This record gives sequence, structure tokens and C-alpha cells, in this order.
Amino acid sequence: MSALPKEVKIVEVGPRDGLQNEPEQIPTELKLAFIGRLAESGLREIEATSFVHPKAIPQLADAVDVAGKLPPAEGVTYSALVPNQKGLDRALASGIRRIAVFTAASDSFTQKNINMTVDESLATFAPVVKAALAAGLSVRGYVSTSFVCPYEGDISKDRVLGVSTQLLDMGIDEVAVSDTIGAAAPTDVFETVGHLLKSIPPGKLALHLHDTYGTALANVLAGLQLGITTFDSSAGGLGGCPYAPGAAGNLATEDLVYMLERMG
Ligand code: HMG
Ligand code: MG
Repeated sequence: MSALPKEVKIVEVGPRDGLQNEPEQIPTELKLAFIGRLAESGLREIEATSFVHPKAIPQLADAVDVAGKLPPAEGVTYSALVPNQKGLDRALASGIRRIAVFTAASDSFTQKNINMTVDESLATFAPVVKAALAAGLSVRGYVSTSFVCPYEGDISKDRVLGVSTQLLDMGIDEVAVSDTIGAAAPTDVFETVGHLLKSIPPGKLALHLHDTYGTALANVLAGLQLGITTFDSSAGGLGGCPYAPGAAGNLATEDLVYMLERMG
């Protein structure tokens, strides 16, 4: 155990991945209060909202408003999802400084989620990432269904590597390798993330884990053993994707913090 990383970064995705799945409309002011308290709790990177089509995710239709009123907090970075140029225009209008583009390792999922194939999504992102970087923003990229797709089943690690590499080549600084429906076990993490690490440094990878079967913390340990130091989680374990049947909540931030602190 002595070889485990001494420090990790947590990316809190509750206000985005958590709230995007809540059926009851939450007032903007309440979202801002939630985000403010997450920042006060010591979290340093918070995914605050999402500039997707309001019809796709009605809960986050107030993204420009939320992002424009984020509570100022020393040392805290706020980010938001951006699927295309229109999303970037809205992000820039809001003043947010970090965005995340998102695709997947399976075409069936990206078609349902963003109405594009994986290749089409990468072609869409290339100019968006370029424009975002030119405007001084930083960019992360998600690869959903990196282990299992709700429509296609098991996903090839080479496919995940191909998509991750294309995103990194655009200039994004971090790939969030995502277990969209929380189906992965530690063996999958060793296999797929281990494969990525042959050509991608650990500092450029994050693990974004959902917790459908209670395997998320075990997957964190597998990630730590591989040298991964960035983990996404959601306060209270809220979360899920309406376009991924079976997606349960995200790994809960409080459980992640407990385990990591207990481990030193
Ligand atoms: P589309 O219908 O193909 O878009 O949707 P389009 O480009 O054909 O445009 C159609 C209309 O939408 C146009 O308006 C655009 O202006 C407008 P019109 O000219 O007809 O009046 N439009 C937009 N409006 C606001 N914001 C935008 C935007 N883009 C176009 N950004 C689109 C394609 C990608 C927009 C849509 O499918 C979408 O918004 N999908 C998002 C789905 C989503 O948010 N899913 C959940 C997040 S992903 C996730 O949870 C996984 C993750 O957590 C990792 C993991 O766990 O795996 C990240
Ligand atoms: Mg997610």
C-alpha cells in the first residue's frame, strides 16, 4: 500500500450529474446555495451545470444564470458541460472558465445522448475545443461507456484509447474515463485504464464512477493502485444519465472522502 498516491483531486459533479437526473425542478437560487456549500466544504473543483439543449435536460435550462452567479470562492474552479458550438457560446456568455466536452466509446450511446456518432462528436468538438482554448478556457473531456454500454455491452479498451487520444490531441487537459452505468469491477479498471496508461500519463486521466452495484469505491482503489489521482464524485451519491438506462447515482463524495482520509 505504500506505493499509493499521497494526494488526490476530487471533481464534485453533484450540481451537474446529480441534479440533471432530479425530476423536480430545483430553483436557481437553491442550486447556487448547494454549490456555495460544496465550495465551503473544501471541494476545489465543482462541475456546476451544463450548456446542453434545455429540452434534453430541462433541469439545467438555467445554466447561463447559474454559471453567471457562481459564488466566488478562493481556489475553487467551476466547470460545465458543453456539447457543441452553441453550448460554448452560452458558456462564454456566462463567464465560466472551464468546460467539459463529452462523448463515449460507443456509437449507440452517443446517438441517444447527443444525436451524433462518436466520430461526428469528435469532429464537432475539435473547433469548439480550439475556440475555448483560444478564449483562455481550460477543457476536460469525458469518455462515457468506457467499460460497459447499456446498448452494446462490453467495450473494447482499444476503442477507449482511440477516443481518449483523439480528445487529448485536441488540447484537452484531462480525460474522464467514465463508467456511465456503474457496471465496472476493479478487473475492468485494471484492464482498460491499465491499457490507457501505456500511452497516457496518469495525471491526464480521471475516473468518473457511477455506483449501481456498489463497486465504485473498489474501482477507486484499483485506480489508486494504477496511479490515478483524480476522481469524480457527487455529494449524497446523486446522479445518473437520462439517456443511459440503468445508470444509478454517482460515487458519493462523502464516502470517497471518508475512505481516502481513513487511508491517509
Ligand atoms: P440536436 O437536436 O442534434 O442539435 O441536439 P442541433 O445542433 O441539430 O440543433 C437543434 C436546435 O437546438 C437548434 O435550435 C440549436 O440552436 C439548438 P433551432 O435552430 O432549431 O431553434 N441547440 C442548442 N440550444 C442550447 N444549447 C445547446 C444547443 N445545441 C443546439 N448546446 C445536442 C444535439 C447535443 C444539443 C442535444 O442532443 C443535447 O443537448 N444533448 C445533451 C444530453 C445530455 O446532457 N446528457 C447528459 C449529460 S452526459 C452524462 O451524463 C455522462 C457523463 O456524466 C459521463 C458518464 O457518466 O458517462 C458526462
Ligand atoms: Mg456521469
